[in-house]
Amino acid sequence: MKIKKVIVPVAGWGTGLLPATKNVPKEMLPIHNKPIIQYVVEEAQAAGLTDVVFVTNQNKVIIQDHFDYNLALERVLERAGKLDLIKTIRDVAEMVTVIAIRQKEQLGLGHAVLCARAVCGDEPVAVMVGDDLMFGPDPAIGQLMDVALAEHMPVVGVIEVPENQVDKYGIIQGEEFAPGMYRVRGVVEKPAVGKAPSRLAMVGRYVLFPDIFKHLEKCKPGVGGEIQLTDALQALVKENRLLAVKLKGQRFDAGDWPEYLAANVYMGLNDPAMRDLLKKRLTEVLEG
Ligand code: G1P
Repeated sequence: MKIKKVIVPVAGWGTGLLPATKNVPKEMLPIHNKPIIQYVVEEAQAAGLTDVVFVTNQNKVIIQDHFDYNLALERVLERAGKLDLIKTIRDVAEMVTVIAIRQKEQLGLGHAVLCARAVCGDEPVAVMVGDDLMFGPDPAIGQLMDVALAEHMPVVGVIEVPENQVDKYGIIQGEEFAPGMYRVRGVVEKPAVGKAPSRLAMVGRYVLFPDIFKHLEKCKPGVGGEIQLTDALQALVKENRLLAVKLKGQRFDAGDWPEYLAANVYMGLNDPAMRDLLKKRLTEVLEG
């Protein structure tokens, strides 16, 4: 069995990044020289996923356009002799097949995933949250796909977060059966600090099987009045059918200013063409 599709919910309002996101979708804000969403799609592509299902809304068509040809711009670049840049923008258009589904009301992550049901068929599917960035030698979603296919079980990606941040995440209670691999015994969305079953937080990477949809269908609004994916995952836990994998790599929450800025610095420092200059400028800035 192969996993081809990845659901990428991108219909959120991005209120955490206002005023920058007043008219620009947060997924299109740049980190280094690419929009946030391109890193997500690059991770999917590196893991062998070929079909990206954006769960989107009417104000975010620009995200689909980013993964399409821009022939007018290509002609301008051709006239200017900038053939390398033509390749750069063509490559983005040719990364993946794009499927777009409208989420007509923003009712939560679980609702967004449910919106993609019609195009998922009977196959397992990956889910990647559109502003959660994971960088590392192995694509994070690929780490989960390997386990899901080997064990025939849904899998969520987790990292350890500080105790005072558990209330920002879905937290798992896990039983470690191999290094960094857990049988999930419970999941809870955004528990209060001091009330979480662990510090293992889900970070927007999931591999799910078609049975998730029947659970999502039954979910009532949960934390924050939203249809929570975490509540459908808890239904899988009750059937003893959920694994978690501790992800390797560096994670940034691009929907949060300090994290967004840190991701820019991280990617800038990873670019040999600007590393030295950026380091010098950062040192000057830090020394005031
Ligand atoms: C969502 C999920 C949460 C998960 C988080 C990761 O929350 O509901 O379980 O830990 O993404 O980023 P949100 O950040 O949309 O509030």
